[in-house]
Amino acid sequence: MMKRDIFTSGFGVLAATLGSAVGLGNIWKFPALTGLNGGAAFLVIYLLSTLMAGLPVMIAELMLGRRSRSDALTTFRVLHPQRESWGLIGAVGVLSAFLILAFYTEVAGWVFAYVFKSVTGSILSTDPTVTSAAFAKLIADPVQSIFWQFLVIIFVGCIIVAGVSKGIEKTTKRLMPMLFLILVMIGIRSLMLPGAAEGLTFLFRPDFSKVTGAVVLTAMGLAFFKLSVGMGTMITYGSYFTEDQDIPMTALRVMVADLTVSLLAGIAIFPAVFTYGFKPEAGPALLFITIPAVFSQMPFGTIFVVLFFVLGAIASTGAMLSIMEVPVAYLHQRFGLSRFKATAMTVVLLALVGSTAALSNSTLAGFKLFGMTMFDLYDFLTSNLLLPLGGFFLSLFAGWVWGEKKVRSALSNEGTLANRTVVSFFLFQVKYVAPVIIIVILLRGLKLI
Ligand code: PFF
Repeated sequence: MMKRDIFTSGFGVLAATLGSAVGLGNIWKFPALTGLNGGAAFLVIYLLSTLMAGLPVMIAELMLGRRSRSDALTTFRVLHPQRESWGLIGAVGVLSAFLILAFYTEVAGWVFAYVFKSVTGSILSTDPTVTSAAFAKLIADPVQSIFWQFLVIIFVGCIIVAGVSKGIEKTTKRLMPMLFLILVMIGIRSLMLPGAAEGLTFLFRPDFSKVTGAVVLTAMGLAFFKLSVGMGTMITYGSYFTEDQDIPMTALRVMVADLTVSLLAGIAIFPAVFTYGFKPEAGPALLFITIPAVFSQMPFGTIFVVLFFVLGAIASTGAMLSIMEVPVAYLHQRFGLSRFKATAMTVVLLALVGSTAALSNSTLAGFKLFGMTMFDLYDFLTSNLLLPLGGFFLSLFAGWVWGEKKVRSALSNEGTLANRTVVSFFLFQVKYVAPVIIIVILLRGLKLI
């Protein structure tokens, strides 16, 4: 049997797992969705979904992955050979990986482009109509869109080829501390602005009048997307954990750190938005149109714009590594392909699927399914449907199918950790709370009940 490459240290485990969770979700999706859906009210629902659905599913995934020491699909075959159909969770997970990467690499492509363009100054202006035109020009240009996306895909592919410990672990260990440092710097700068109080009020005072079934589903979808759960990413990473790693504790730490990054991003963005009279409801454009305009108005603004996009590039890299690892680990283990071949196949396939998202604002702008461009469709399908569904079945599998005794011994590291209460609480969550909440929110959000 091939020797499995695994994460080598506790800090490596944390950096890689947190690197997966922290990403464009924190600085692109979280502020955009919070701004669109009523600020703190959305934040509260997102927090509850994270605690009650996201966290238990994350623990379940890490646990199953470490037990099986296998990829997202094979895990179910190893742990429950009696019934092959559970493997569908992993199969849908691999599909989700491609769909998420398709639009994610495009947004990351814009971020990488903006690092370059903010250094050269070509996207900088204090006038939002100018920054808006600059962004429109980038996304409407098929050549640039494809160029930046492919660049990102190849970049991530190169790190993946280097392996689990020498590629993923080494990279994220270096990047994560940098990310925190930059974020804190921008946050402090933003808090010194005159509109800071108004921005913070927006972020922390709830307005429940905006909350509908669809908004609740969006908040739960964000919770899954944020923690990278519901599609086998954490199963795959769990399979690289050492046996002595405390899984519930690691998951909790990652969740807290990830929330901190989102809040810091909110604290960096909203005060600035209010200070210069912008609207928080700008949606996805917040990052690419509002941020350059807002930050350009501050003294030393250019430096902060550059820093902000470097932050985005760092954050997105750790997340993309973890998503790409899902199909690569599967191809590697299941078909015995070398890491290089498995990555090359993934990269080529991804370039094909991804280009349909990249061209959504240009060549394929008129091509819509269910009224959405491919870019929007992949985003909607994964966050609001496939991840919650994956989370639902994962919690059923971990809570009801695999067996309580096995869960107890897996999460207590065969009784060596004194965490009985924590594990009992987890079992209750994963058996009753998570599946019920997920299915109710899902059906209601889709207007099926
Ligand atoms: N958690 C990442 C973010 O918030 O940007 C995105 C992500 C990574 C989603 C890995 C899903 C996944 F499997």
